[in-house]
Amino acid sequence: MAEKSSGGAAEKGGGGALTRRGLLVGIGAVGGAGAMYAAMGALGLAPAEQDKDFTAPRTGDFTLRGKGSAKVVILGAGVAGLTAAYELGKAGYDCTLLEARPKAGGRNLSLRGGDRLTELNGPAQDVTFGEGVYFNAGPGRIAPWMVTLDYCRELGVPIETFVNNNAAAYVHTNGRTVRAREARADMYGYVAELLAKATDLGALDRVVSKNDQETLLDFLRRFGDLGPKLEYEGSDRRGFTKFPALDAGAPVPAPGSLHQILAAGTGRAITSDFGFEQATPMFQPVGGMDAIVTKLVEAVGQDRIKTGAKVTKITTLADGVEVVHTGGSIKADYCVAALPPHLLAKIPHNLGAQVTAALATPVPAAAGKIGLEYGRRWWEREDRIYGGVTETDLDITHIWYPSHGYHSERGLLVGYYNTDENAELYAALTPEDRRRRALTQGKKIHGEKYRQDVLSSASIAWERQEHIQGAWVRWPSFDSSFTLLQRPAGRVYFAGDWLTHLIAWQAGAMESARGAVTQLHQRVLQSP
Ligand code: ALA
Repeated sequence: MAEKSSGGAAEKGGGGALTRRGLLVGIGAVGGAGAMYAAMGALGLAPAEQDKDFTAPRTGDFTLRGKGSAKVVILGAGVAGLTAAYELGKAGYDCTLLEARPKAGGRNLSLRGGDRLTELNGPAQDVTFGEGVYFNAGPGRIAPWMVTLDYCRELGVPIETFVNNNAAAYVHTNGRTVRAREARADMYGYVAELLAKATDLGALDRVVSKNDQETLLDFLRRFGDLGPKLEYEGSDRRGFTKFPALDAGAPVPAPGSLHQILAAGTGRAITSDFGFEQATPMFQPVGGMDAIVTKLVEAVGQDRIKTGAKVTKITTLADGVEVVHTGGSIKADYCVAALPPHLLAKIPHNLGAQVTAALATPVPAAAGKIGLEYGRRWWEREDRIYGGVTETDLDITHIWYPSHGYHSERGLLVGYYNTDENAELYAALTPEDRRRRALTQGKKIHGEKYRQDVLSSASIAWERQEHIQGAWVRWPSFDSSFTLLQRPAGRVYFAGDWLTHLIAWQAGAMESARGAVTQLHQRVLQSP
């Protein structure tokens, strides 16, 4: 390195020792800002936001080592495949993506008027949504800590808030519908009362010190909005039937007893914002989740993506890899296999029986969604619901209200987003019956307008999507099969959300692609 850095030579300190600043100036002169930041990270000097464990390959890496990039065939142009191509492309790798579906994106699918959605063993649906209306049939929300947002920033995909938790949305259990704020106030209130009373009666004396009991009681009073006798008697946190304005308004009627609240099963539905992955605020790309795909495809180059190309054979060779597909065959130096594992497992290959067994280990899961388009945003006008999710114990599981286009004329609700048995139940119905059933269920919460005002709909059953055949997968355990596939088999690398602990998130696909790219690039740089 020192020989090459003529002119930008690393400074020496007074005693002849290389100073940290001098070292960084030298690294920066040779390797550019990325290399300098990486070195700063190693020295503990980089600002926190640069403290990432991924450094994108760059053409300069080859200059340093006197090598050239390689040819890579990528199987699948979903988020993992596209991310791999995008990152490898930064260093000039010659990537070709083979995609069996008619277009790139995989499960990142936004449906709009004019689209046609086909499914295995089912009729096609012609989507007739109006101008500007879209349905994120796959991923719909992004947590701010996820790498997905870094890609949105880098690719210039504008984002907006996704309302994941809305106190004005409903909780519907055992036939009873209440606002989420009321359900929460009652559950928190009664739980706080019970714990406060137990504390006050000395039931916790053996496990909580007197001092801590005071602190606990103080917290519980505020957590549950308890009265002076540590009793929950309702709270204006529960909301109003007539909002306060010139007068004090009319609070919703007093809460039922603890028994009634428990019997209603309200507590079961109060978990929406608890998970690290689901905590607000969350985000979505403006105009549809597929904006991420559009930008990735633009960056990678549409001409590098062969659609309608189903992979039928993968052979790793001493000097490369050969992939046969329905449109021909392709030879490359390396392969990144970014298809769902259950489909990869069925493709003939010479990667060994262990690889086949590992690929067949994760179990595909069913999930489905329906988009219901309305000509009037009654949920905003009448229910005062601006985004968010209604939780139910019905087979629709959730209703999502749109977090964009507020006050515009039309709008689209997600009328069900369900998984496993519920998803299978809807998948088995015709699109018309899915819609009918979803409307009957939603009417239990929103009344007759839910059925009457709907304009059009489109529904997806992910296990019936050709060349995908599952919403995501579940590993029985993250065992040696999982770790085996995180390493290459011959010249074939694997990538997908299924190879991470972020399954069912685009961030998983992106992180996995980055992992494969890093390993592949290191190998190319180190190869003789
Ligand atoms: N990532 C999926 C969701 O947001 C599971 O629901």
